[in-house]
Amino acid sequence: MTKRLEQLYEGKAKRIFRTSSPGVYLVDYKDDATAFNGAKKGTIQNKGVLNNLISTVFFRLLEGKGIPTHFVEQVSDREMLVKSLEIIKVEVVVRNIAAGSLAKRLGLPEGKALPLPVLEFYYKDDDLGDPMINDYHIRALDLASPEQMRKITDIALKVNKILLEHLSDKNIDLVDFKLEFGVHEGEVLLGDEISPDTCRFWDKKTHEKLDKDRFRRDLGNVEEAYEEVYRRLTGKNF
Ligand code: TMP
Repeated sequence: MTKRLEQLYEGKAKRIFRTSSPGVYLVDYKDDATAFNGAKKGTIQNKGVLNNLISTVFFRLLEGKGIPTHFVEQVSDREMLVKSLEIIKVEVVVRNIAAGSLAKRLGLPEGKALPLPVLEFYYKDDDLGDPMINDYHIRALDLASPEQMRKITDIALKVNKILLEHLSDKNIDLVDFKLEFGVHEGEVLLGDEISPDTCRFWDKKTHEKLDKDRFRRDLGNVEEAYEEVYRRLTGKNF
């Protein structure tokens, strides 16, 4: 039985604990919500539970399709065990439909389908507000090796295919999402979470937003949106 030991780190949405199993950390998902690099703060009731459960569904799906992830097991409503990672400070965004910062930066209407998945990299640095970077910046700052970036790109595009197909069956369009990676025993693994905090999910027919944009843009029914994603993924009411 793996026991939770001291806290190693507290982020905006999660706390990480060392455990009695070497190489295994425990993630505790919080209800705290922030946006715009922490400038907007709030609470989304039961978000921690829902994001833990939803991330568990996605990590199991991806592991089953051969994607190497940090997921070990869900241990309680709000907690999962993961393999310890040395975090690679590159956030990877994959986009299928123009929305958010891409729509703004390139002057595209939100909702315009992109002819191919668009990959973006951001430097994971809160003080700098996570600026967008490219392969050259990644090399220059020595954030990841070219070999690691090839692996990360390959995994990100495969994850996109798997999630697009799975969500399509649940009448959800996967607009875009953010992934994080780390190294465990020399291997690049998919880390962090996959949830309505880190993805844009739109209802296929109505285009209703079922993700954190409801909080970011004060659209209301935030909890209901997270619960709806859970319901569609599991077939169970929360
Ligand atoms: P963006 O359009 O604001 O750049 O967001 C792209 C995707 O990345 C969207 O699905 C939300 C996700 N995301 C995060 O998970 N964390 C962040 O800090 C930001 C800015 C976006």
